[in-house]
Parts: sequence; structure tokens; C-alpha cells
Amino acid sequence: MAEILGLGLSHYPLLCVPDASMASLLAWTLEDPDIPAHEKDPINWSAQMQEEWSNDKGAKAAGRHRAELVRNFDRARDALDAFKPDAVLIWGDDQYENFKEDVIPPWTVCAYPDMEVKPWDHAHESSAMNDRVNVWGEGKDAAFLLRGRPDIAKELTTGLLQQEIDVAYAYKPLHHKSAGHAFINATLFLDYHRRGFEHPVIMMPLNCYGRKVISAKGFFTRFSHDVELDPPSPSPKRFMQMGAAVARVLKASPYRIALVASSSWSHAFLCDRTWRLRPDTETDERLYAALRAGDYDAWERVTLDDIEGAGQQELLNWFALLGAMRELNAPLQWSEMVPTDVFNSNKVFVQYGPVGANP
Ligand SMILES: [Fe+2]
Repeated sequence: MAEILGLGLSHYPLLCVPDASMASLLAWTLEDPDIPAHEKDPINWSAQMQEEWSNDKGAKAAGRHRAELVRNFDRARDALDAFKPDAVLIWGDDQYENFKEDVIPPWTVCAYPDMEVKPWDHAHESSAMNDRVNVWGEGKDAAFLLRGRPDIAKELTTGLLQQEIDVAYAYKPLHHKSAGHAFINATLFLDYHRRGFEHPVIMMPLNCYGRKVISAKGFFTRFSHDVELDPPSPSPKRFMQMGAAVARVLKASPYRIALVASSSWSHAFLCDRTWRLRPDTETDERLYAALRAGDYDAWERVTLDDIEGAGQQELLNWFALLGAMRELNAPLQWSEMVPTDVFNSNKVFVQYGPVGANP
């Protein structure tokens, strides 16, 4: 009988780097000549932002941020190990990794076989991790086996099409050498202590970046860089509908599946209303309160303009998760929000269920 676990977590790339450079994205943004000087002056920042930035560009605060994140990853990992999934389906944004000029699907089920992943050799393909020192001291030859379950991935694709959710699928990467940042970082962080990660993974990249997927290569730009926007991503509501359909398909399957939303919430580098200096924490807190209250209707009312205005493009991964959890009537077991003003994005962790097919 099917059983489903829901998890939400982050794939914050800068958790991979030492504390001294965890706030390097803010340091880079502060050099943008088109941001007004008074906005860049720490004297005008919130008390929390000044405290985090301090006199060491966030190095000390990074240690605290890391500890909070690792504690939550450990908790999510414990839930995953106790659940013993047949597969972990991860929803993650494709940031110009396989979704490029030759095709931008709304989402794709990756029915990949087992693959060897070299995070520090393949990293230049995604997330600006090229040639950075990582906290594990691993070299370019460090390799991990990422197990797949292409059979379940194909069944899921078939089921989604039968549910009238049109979905792309792939048997191998189109451009990236292995797994994109949203997927490999999630597994690297769930295995932060490097004990191994045996659970098979089904990647389902989503077009979260929409108007910036090609125009900004799903990443950061200077204010003076006038990008010619692409067509939008699917709407938040549509991501919820897709997540609900995934839940219906899996509910009728014989499998134990963990559904994982992999992303941080508001991203500073996407949020013009904060001059790209800090995330839109107020908007994140409103949605987090709705999540805590099980107010799925509040999530469904969110528009794509709301998402883009708050720099929450990656949160679209979580709309898929919430659509699935609503469909399953899955109980919220625990959650934690880890807010920050200097480490680019607020992070949220959550566990729903597990729930059986007939709860
Ligand atoms: Fe991302």
C-alpha cells in the first residue's frame, strides 16, 4: 500500500563554502554601482542585518546559520531514514542547467538510472560553485553514486498524463553532466556528515525561473543589465494542481515515496524591492504563517506577480509540495523557519506525514 512522506528543505549553495565566504553574494551585490549608497550603508540596515554582517562580513553569523541549517537537515534525514522510501521525488528549480535555449518545459520527470555524481567537477555546470573550496575538503575527483528508480519515474509520468497533466520526461541529462544544483545540494546536505545516501532519487526539475530562466540564466545580474524577459513560468496555482496530481498517482501505487520540495524562500538577488540586498522576509513570514495554519487557500491565491515581486521564484517548488499535501490531507509534523538578512534567502524546513493511501 502506498505511503507518502512530505519534506521541505533548502539547497542553499553557499552552505557548501566556508563561513568566511557564506555572505559573498551580498558582498558582490554591495558593489553594484546602481544601488543607492544609503541603501548599501549598514547604518541604515535593520538591527538583525547589522548584527549578522557585523565587522567580519557575516563570518561569525555564518557559523550560527550553518548550525541551524544542519540541525534541520539532520532532522529531515532522520525522518527519511525511518520512512525507508522506495524513492525520493525531489521538486527543484532548473537554473539554466538542462532547461536552456533548446527547450524550456514547465516541468520534467527525470527517469534516470543510477548515476555517478562529482559535485565539485560537475559544479561549474550550475550554481556558480566552480573552483570554490568546499567545507568537506573534497576534491574534483570526489564521486557519489546517486541511485535512480526509472521504473517508478515512468509510472509517475504515465499517471500524470492520465491525470491530464502534460509532462515532459527524460532518460538522460540534456546539458548538465549529472544532477542539477537543486538535487545534488539537497542530497549533499541530507548527507552533511557523509555517512552515505542510499535512497533512490527521482528528480523533477521545474521551470521556477520563468521570465528569467534564459534572460538572466536563472541567476543574478547587475541592475544596469537590462534583460529581455522570457515568457513566464506556470502559475503558483498550476504548480499546486500538478503536485496534487502527483499525490493522486502515487496514492494509487504500491510505493513508499518521499516528496521533497528543494529550495529556500525569498531570494535577495531576485528581489528588486529590497534592492537585492536582503530577502522579502515579511512576505515569507505571511506564507509561513499560512503553511503553519494549513491555510492552503491563501497559498492558492498567490499570483505569479506576487512571487516575482518578492523574489520567491524558487518557492514554486513548495507550491507543488503544498498541493500534494492538501490532496493527501497530510498532517504537519514539524516546521522551522530560519530567517536571515545577509545569507541571501530565508530557509524553511517542514515534515508532513507519512500518510497511507487510506488515512
Ligand atoms: Fe536554486
